[in-house]
This record gives sequence, structure tokens and C-alpha cells, in this order.
Amino acid sequence: MEAPELLRVWVLAALVLGGTRAALPDHHVSLETGAVFVHELERELFQEAFLDEAEDDDDAAPITFHAHLLDHPDLPRWLRFAQRGAHQPGFLYGSPTAAEVGTHIIEVLAYNRLTYETVAQRLVLAVVPAPGGEPPFQSEFLVGNRNVEELLPAPARELFGQAAAGVWEQSDLSIINVTSALDRGGRVPLPIEGRKEGVYVKVGSHNAFSPCLAAAASPQSRFLCHLGQQPLASCYDTFAPHFAIRWCNLTLLEVLPTPTTPGPVWGPGVLEDGGDFQPPTESPAQDLLPGFLLTLLVPLAVAALLCLLLGHLMCCRREGVQKRDLETSDIQLVHHSTIHGDTEELRSMASSRDVPRPLSTLPMFNVRTGQRINPMPGRGDGARAPLIPQQR
Ligand SMILES: *[C@@H]1O[C@H](CO)[C@@H](O)[C@H](O)[C@H]1NC(C)=O
Ligand SMILES: *[C@@H]1O[C@H](CO)[C@@H](O)[C@H](O)[C@H]1NC(C)=O
Repeated sequence: MEAPELLRVWVLAALVLGGTRAALPDHHVSLETGAVFVHELERELFQEAFLDEAEDDDDAAPITFHAHLLDHPDLPRWLRFAQRGAHQPGFLYGSPTAAEVGTHIIEVLAYNRLTYETVAQRLVLAVVPAPGGEPPFQSEFLVGNRNVEELLPAPARELFGQAAAGVWEQSDLSIINVTSALDRGGRVPLPIEGRKEGVYVKVGSHNAFSPCLAAAASPQSRFLCHLGQQPLASCYDTFAPHFAIRWCNLTLLEVLPTPTTPGPVWGPGVLEDGGDFQPPTESPAQDLLPGFLLTLLVPLAVAALLCLLLGHLMCCRREGVQKRDLETSDIQLVHHSTIHGDTEELRSMASSRDVPRPLSTLPMFNVRTGQRINPMPGRGDGARAPLIPQQR
């Protein structure tokens, strides 16, 4: 292994063990509901943040991105991520609705697939409600000859907007949503040159549909589509030749303005504008002493009473040895005191070993033969061992 490569491995190991990760400064974006949001993850930006600059002349390290909501495993529902290959930029795109108003923090991780370095960046997305509200007239086009990431860059969207304006004959068009046909049940195209996934583009306006659009979505057109023919074309297709619109998949939507939810109803007690708050009359000072004494003294008195009772029971009503002796029968007492005396004697004998050993501990011996027998035979039934061996 050459020296620079070794150094690189060391730096990598230190990075992995140290747990430090290069990070780009936070990126703040403000976006409106009801309009498509596209953020391009530029490879060059992350490329510069990687530690070791590509020494080769082509600075095209393969980089893949991963994006997720901060502290969550995945992206929020309205946001999607697309990156065709490790040498292409990544796109975060989606269309927030009114439910998504607020701040979303997205963490983007860029992996260098050659060196396994990572760079993190936080996107702080502030979603604000659209001031004009949702466009009531919406039309969804299916573009057959594009993949989703080809329609996401701003120039492509602008071109599409101009083409749509030619058909709709309005100037206030805005792109509401961009979705890959794969996300709507479309099929992955065969790997043949020129085949694309298809993209749904939803365009909105505050003005009514043009006759051309209305004709393309009319029942007669639907019927022709059903027969496998092209729908009625009453106008010039301004999308051609850049975008191949599948006119049979055109949908026109009229979104009724959502009734504005009634605001909170002011109840009594809400201040008029500019009025000063008048506090209610002061409450009279209450005498809290009786309550305090009651809560403190009653438990104390009960505790003292219990103490006295217990003391009396334990000290004055104690039944001593005398009462016990009186209740025990005399014979039992004598028995007990004998055992007691014997124990005492044994104890005193043990303390002074000069007294003769008790007979029961001495070996037995026969008076006539002088034979000795161990009183604790090792084997056999000691209880049956005859005291005096029988003469044979
Ligand atoms: C945008 O399209 C996606 C996919 O069809 C859909 O889930 C989402 O609700 C759409 N958003 C809006 C605002 O229409
Ligand atoms: C377009 O519409 C036809 C029916 O009108 C449908 O069968 C087809 O699946 C649609 N294409 C896509 C990509 O959704």
C-alpha cells in the first residue's frame, strides 16, 4: 500500500472511530402550499465538502444521497426524493398541502461511494399557506416522454408552463404537483432507448379551462380514447415537440373553494380592542388559623394518645417470669431446672479439663477379660453390639 493511500485509510478510520461527520451549514427555504417545491441536491456543493479532493482530473466521484426527516427514518409523506444515478444530482420534490404548514427539518446525507465519506446538510423548510388560496381550476397532464427528474429542474418546468399556457390560453398558470407515473401505478419501461417512465404534471389556474382542454376531456373524446383513437383535437398542440402529452390521460378538476373554517367565537370576557383589564374586586382575607390548627393538632393528639397507650401496654402491663412460673406445673419446672443444672455442670467440666471424663465417654471394658470395646463402633449396628462379648 502506498503512503498516501495508507494515510487516507488512517484518516477514514479516525473519522469512523471519532464519529465526526463533515456538515454543511443549514439551508433555509420558504415554500408555499399548493405549489410544487423542488430542491436540487447539487453534487458540486457536497463534493467540495468531502475531505480529500479528487486528485484525478475528472472530479466525478459517485455520490448518492439519502434524505429523511430529522429524528425520523423517512421523509414526510408529501416530500419525495429522486436520483437517477450516482453521477446525477438528487431532487427533493413535493407539494405541501394546508396540513403541512409549519417547519420541517430534513437531513440530507451525501455518501461518496469511492471513499465512503459522508457529508450532512440540514434543510429547514418553512411551509406557509399560499396567500391566494388553491387555484380552483386544475388540469393534470401525463407527459409520456420524460422521467420525473427530467421535468424537475427549473428550466424544464418553465418550458412546460409556457407550453401549457399555449393550450390553456391563460397567463396565471402554476405547476401544482409533479409525480412520476411509477408512483401512480405506471410500469417501469423496458430498457430501450427513448422509453421513459412518464410524469404527471398538475397545473392550476384561477381562470376557466380553454375550449381546447374542455374538448380533450369531453365524453366524446373519452369514447374515442376507449376505442383506441386520439381524442378530438380542436387546437394546436403547443407541447409538441418537447413533450408528448398523452391526451387520453388528461384530467380536469374544478376544486370548489374550501369553506373557510369559522374562526373561534368570542365569548364574554374577551377584551375590546384598546380596553384595559380591570381585575375583579379583591377577595377578603380569610382566617386560615383554625384550619391550620385543625389539620396539625388533631393528628398530633391522636399520635400522642397512641404513644401513651403503647407505653402503658409495654411497661406497666408486662407479664414477667413469675407469672409464667406460677402457671407452669411443678414437675415441668423441676424437669427444666434439672436439665439446666446438668448443662451448667457440663459447661463447668468443659472449662476445667481436670475432672474425670464422664463414664459414658470411656471405652467399655469387660471386668473378667479386661477386653475393651470402643463405645462408638465404626461399623455394624451399635445398638446390637453386646456389652459383654459372649463366650464361645
Ligand atoms: C401530488 O401528487 C401525489 C402523488 O400523486 C399525491 O399523493 C399528492 O397528494 C399530490 N399533492 C397535491 C397537493 O395535490
Ligand atoms: C392512461 O389512461 C388509460 C385509460 O384511459 C389507462 O389505461 C392507462 O393506464 C393510463 N396511463 C397511465 C400511465 O396511467
